[in-house]
Amino acid sequence: MQTDSNFIFVLFGGTGDLSMRKILPALFEAHRAGMLAAAGKIVAVARGVETREAYLGWVEEHVKPHVAKNGVVDESAWTGFLARVEYVHIDLGRPEDFRILRDAVAQHDGTRVFYLATGPSLFVPICRALAEVGLNQNARIVLEKPLGYDLESSNAINDAVGEIFQEEQIYRIDHYLGKEPVQNLLALRFGNALFEPLWRREWVESIQITIAEELGVEARGDFYDNTGALRDMVQNHLLQLLSIVTMEPPHSMDSDSVRDEKLRVLRALKPIDERDISKVAVRGQYHAGVIKGQSVPAYATEPGVRTESRTETFVALKVEIENWRWAGVPFFLRTGKRLADRVAEIVVNFRPVPHSALGANALRAGANRLVIRLQPNETIRLYCLAKQPGEGMNLASVHLDLAFDQFFREGQMEAYQRLLLDVIRGRLALFVRRDEQEAAWRWVEPILNEWAVSTKPPKPYAAGTWGPAASSAMLAQHGTCWLEEEN
Ligand code: BG6
Repeated sequence: MQTDSNFIFVLFGGTGDLSMRKILPALFEAHRAGMLAAAGKIVAVARGVETREAYLGWVEEHVKPHVAKNGVVDESAWTGFLARVEYVHIDLGRPEDFRILRDAVAQHDGTRVFYLATGPSLFVPICRALAEVGLNQNARIVLEKPLGYDLESSNAINDAVGEIFQEEQIYRIDHYLGKEPVQNLLALRFGNALFEPLWRREWVESIQITIAEELGVEARGDFYDNTGALRDMVQNHLLQLLSIVTMEPPHSMDSDSVRDEKLRVLRALKPIDERDISKVAVRGQYHAGVIKGQSVPAYATEPGVRTESRTETFVALKVEIENWRWAGVPFFLRTGKRLADRVAEIVVNFRPVPHSALGANALRAGANRLVIRLQPNETIRLYCLAKQPGEGMNLASVHLDLAFDQFFREGQMEAYQRLLLDVIRGRLALFVRRDEQEAAWRWVEPILNEWAVSTKPPKPYAAGTWGPAASSAMLAQHGTCWLEEEN
């Protein structure tokens, strides 16, 4: 276990939702597991709270419930964790407040990390204020998504931040890259010779990537209504997953080798012609419905959402990659809120046998398929056909399972924990480089533009379903269907 990197971790947005649910619990878990250097400090920065005591009170009330395991908190670890936490009250409009921060930081040795868990409109002002007091030297800056609203605004932020921090100092976080199964996908693809010859257009018929949520917009209606699923999930998480599934084997696992290969895929995405958008992109918005027995309201009646909102809570896309490995293979991506189930998975449909000596049912669906389940219950499942016991040659779909929690009972790590440790240790591979981000924005932009001016509203779907019928129809045009529709 590596604990050697001493650090000072400055958390802007210290009382925000993300700090409460993800960042502070991840730091606590790293502390509890003995993965943080003993002298490492966390300096929370916020506006709403005046003193350290008041901040610790907030942490006790809001963060502690998120660190419990089976309802129990490791109290001695919790006390030790709180001892690491310092607090600086900052008003962005007062440059002298940053001098207080500088003095607080100067009291500690170690890698300086500035984590901006704030809205993107504060990224540049915070970076400038840090530079004014010299805190951009020997430091790393972590930028949360969304980084901008479109290509132009993201470039504006990247340009301004780039004047203050070098690219090697900038950690653009996409928490999907920190998920254990996504790491495993790299291990599966590049640690085994078995899959490589099959991982291409000759053998793969289509690939589906789904990130489905049961949750709605929670308390983020205001933010979400100005964002929508394309910006919130597709531009980043789904395109990152797609690039990991389809990238060429990197020369090594160093940060630029991996990111160079992902970038090649993002640049090879077939540009979408505005006239074709209705054929390759479906946008939906949920109406009231029932999810697992629970009634939920329509998106348009959620707090913070405009009644006439045209924001999409569901997106399904057909994507193509213009390179030798993938030419002609359709990739179907989909994400949505208030869907029937919470599931994130990648389905690789291999081509059926070209001729079946075993009868027609050897060509049927349910075989020649690899399903990589990212959450919940991480598994990799290979579906094959096998003979049913008994007389005759009757085939049935069976699967080989790699259930990670059975193989590896310990050491599982939450995405944020892994990523925060990577920042502290200076590993950039799981963070998005500027050019990748630009390529992803460039690719989604025609869809964003078209949907912004389209007179057609998003297609309705009832909460608790798998999205609008048009999503299934899009796959049907390619002679296929979403995995759950097969059963
Ligand atoms: C975030 C989005 O990036 O990812 C949220 O902003 C979404 O809207 C979340 O709910 C999903 O992440 P996870 O890890 O719960 O699948």
